[in-house]
Amino acid sequence: MAHWNPSGKLAVVTGASSGIGRCLSKQLVARRCCVIAVARRGDRLQELADQIGRDRADGMLLPIVGDVTDPQTRGQIESQVRSRGGRLDLLVNNAGIGGIGPFERATESRLRKIMEVNFFAPAELTRRLMPYLKSSGDAVICNLGSVLGHRAVPDKSEYCASKFAMHGWSDALRAELAGASVQVTLVSPSTTRSEFFDTLVESDAGATSKSIGSWPAERVAAATLTAIRKRRAEVVLSVGGKLLVYADRLCPPLMNWLLQKRSGQ
Ligand SMILES: NC(=O)c1ccc[n+]([C@@H]2O[C@H](COP(=O)([O-])OP(=O)(O)OC[C@H]3O[C@@H](n4cnc5c(N)ncnc54)[C@H](OP(=O)(O)O)[C@@H]3O)[C@@H](O)[C@H]2O)c1
Repeated sequence: MAHWNPSGKLAVVTGASSGIGRCLSKQLVARRCCVIAVARRGDRLQELADQIGRDRADGMLLPIVGDVTDPQTRGQIESQVRSRGGRLDLLVNNAGIGGIGPFERATESRLRKIMEVNFFAPAELTRRLMPYLKSSGDAVICNLGSVLGHRAVPDKSEYCASKFAMHGWSDALRAELAGASVQVTLVSPSTTRSEFFDTLVESDAGATSKSIGSWPAERVAAATLTAIRKRRAEVVLSVGGKLLVYADRLCPPLMNWLLQKRSGQ
């Protein structure tokens, strides 16, 4: 099958007001794609739409201001897709949040918030948009996972659980949709320079990720677009990310020992 081509297509990108989602939306519009861009911060989405307008890109950005955990927002997204012909070619489930700190000391609310945004909302949005994706005949569902959805680490238990859920659900959906011309692409970045660590749920100020290197959001977005275009099933990004995931696949006891040693420091 030929590469997926963004030109003239309709996409939904959640979490488009900053980081990876913002960069990916710009990259899609620059390739003549029409992007329904979703996030809670309307001023940020408007600023992005204005910037894209000034750059005179051939595509278009249609902002939807709302919370992806709210069924009304998901309804607005569906209405926008319907009003543009009812054919959806790309859904990027990117909106996500994190939290850092021991599970025992956190509240139920941290677990619920992270699972709602990172897993239940994208799953329900996908279910709602499935008829429109199927009518494309050439659609891609791209889920932003994490290397922590392949190998769990201490102090990020809720986040790891949400990204493992995203990983398992993506694998199941890919198999279910094999005969329906809808590809499911799971992109698993490692630490990415974005606003992610400024908005952690119930976490100590200055809490951050301990990883080998980090990528700028633009680079993660570009790698995500490549994975979409090539209809890849799964990509794990960055040297540090690949080391964590593939070393764990080769020798889980070694990785358990290393992580326990590091956490006990
Ligand atoms: N940064 C990393 O190190 C890293 C590593 C691996 C994977 N990832 C994953 O990559 C994805 C993007 O993260 P990022 O690094 O680009 O972080 P980011 O800069 O914080 O962007 C997160 C986006 O999600 C949106 N969002 C959050 N909660 C939302 C909600 N309830 N409803 C609608 N939109 C919501 C935010 O917009 P509003 O606040 O305006 O709603 C923002 O646009 C996430 O799924 C994250 O888990 C990140």
